[in-house]
Formats: sequence, C-alpha cells, structure tokens
Amino acid sequence: MRRPVIAGNWKMYKDLNEAVELASGIRKQVQEFDNVDKVIAPPFVNLTEVAKAIADSNVYLAAQNCHWEKEGAFTGEVSARMLKSIGCRYIIIGHSERRQYFGETNETVNLKIKAAVANNLIPIMCVGETLQEREEGRTVDVVKSHVTGGLKGFTEKEIDSLIIAYEPVWAIGTGKTATPKQAQEVHRMIRGLVKELYSETLAKNKRILYGGSVKPENIEELMKQEDIDGGLIGGASLKIDSYVDMVRKTSELYEGK
Ligand code: PGA
Repeated sequence: MRRPVIAGNWKMYKDLNEAVELASGIRKQVQEFDNVDKVIAPPFVNLTEVAKAIADSNVYLAAQNCHWEKEGAFTGEVSARMLKSIGCRYIIIGHSERRQYFGETNETVNLKIKAAVANNLIPIMCVGETLQEREEGRTVDVVKSHVTGGLKGFTEKEIDSLIIAYEPVWAIGTGKTATPKQAQEVHRMIRGLVKELYSETLAKNKRILYGGSVKPENIEELMKQEDIDGGLIGGASLKIDSYVDMVRKTSELYEGK
C-alpha cells in the first residue's frame, strides 16, 4: 500500500513568528497519526527556525523551490544543497505558480529535479493544466508533457522516491476543486504513463498527490479515489486545526484500508 502524504504549501504566507507558531502547533497535534507522511513547506526565510520547531518529530520540512546549480553568481537564488544542509527532506518543484509567474519550463523543472535527487531530497513534482487547456480538451497532452519533460533522462532508481502532484491550475486557490472523478481520471492516466515510461512496479508504488482547493470538507472524497495518495494543500494548510483535521481524516481512511 502507498503511504499517504499530506503536504502543506505555505507559499508566501507567514512571518517568522507565525511560521514557528503554526509548525509547533501542528507538531503537537499530529504525532499520533503515524500512518501518514506529514510535510510542511514554509517560505525560505523561515526554514531554519521551523526546522528547529519540528526537530525530532514526525513532521518533515520541504522547500518550495530551488536553483539547479550547486552554487554560483545567481543573486536571490537558493540551491538544493543549501536546503539539504538546513534540514529539508522534500522539495516542491515546478509548482504552477512558478511556471506561470516565474517562467519555469519542463526543462528547468527537469534540472531542478536533478539537483534535488543529487542532494537526496525528495522532489514533489507538480503538473497540471490551465482552464483554457482543459476547455480545449488538452488536459491529457499537457499533463503528459509535464510528466515526461520533468522526468526526462532519469533512471527508475533515481526517481524511486519522487512524488508527483497533480494540480489543475483552475482549481488552485479558487475554491473550485476538481471532482473526485475528474481528479481520479488524471491520476490514473499519470500512473499509466509512469508504467509506460518505467515499469509496473514503479507505477504501483508511485505516490501521486492531488492539489487544488483541498480542505477538511472535501479531503475524504478525494482520498477515497484509488489513485490519489494524498494532498498538496495551500490555503487550508495555513491553520493548525484544518491541517491537523486533514491529517486525521486521511489517517482514519488509511487505517481502514
Ligand atoms: P490551494 O493551493 O490548496 O490553496 O488551492 C494548492 C497549491 O497551490 O499547492
């Protein structure tokens, strides 16, 4: 069985004190839910203090982005190696907001995954179509190109732990969740593609998260879908109660499976 992941993407929210408070509160309340991987991704500047707040717990730290080079004259950038050195375990790569506002492409996503893998960070690779692409019937093509482009050149072993997050752009921060059926269809397609590109074993074990307006009220219906293995959650991960609630619900569902 694939172990579920509940990953909170804090985006550009929370100053230092707020970030530490949120992380500490989450830490206290999720310890008992040991059948779920709990991940939080604060902004860069808060990573070190949040790492301290969750030290020796079963909540893990993620960064939201990185540069692909080890170091160099790249003003304003942060490398995967630096992130590893301060205690990150996961890294979100290719989020649609990065693609949309900061010019990220399948090529840069591919390079960043390479950097993450080289530093033993677990990439959470985001893929997903825009509203226009969905309306034009191009969802499958776009998601396929994100997956194949992002994974280009990797061996099965290198991407063994990599997590894929399907996030339809039109569902992010809009309150418009994909229906469980819509999400499941794309998740199944992605799993099939991983099988085609690699193997049945990798496809069977690959964790694929759904993201886009996930909240305590809709998480169970989504998680009940066969190919959905967790959530990458923005807005609803910014409050202790709601994050904990989503972890609890996921844990209970998987307990019963
Ligand atoms: P949302 O964001 O949950 O606020 O829609 C999800 C994401 O962008 O990862």
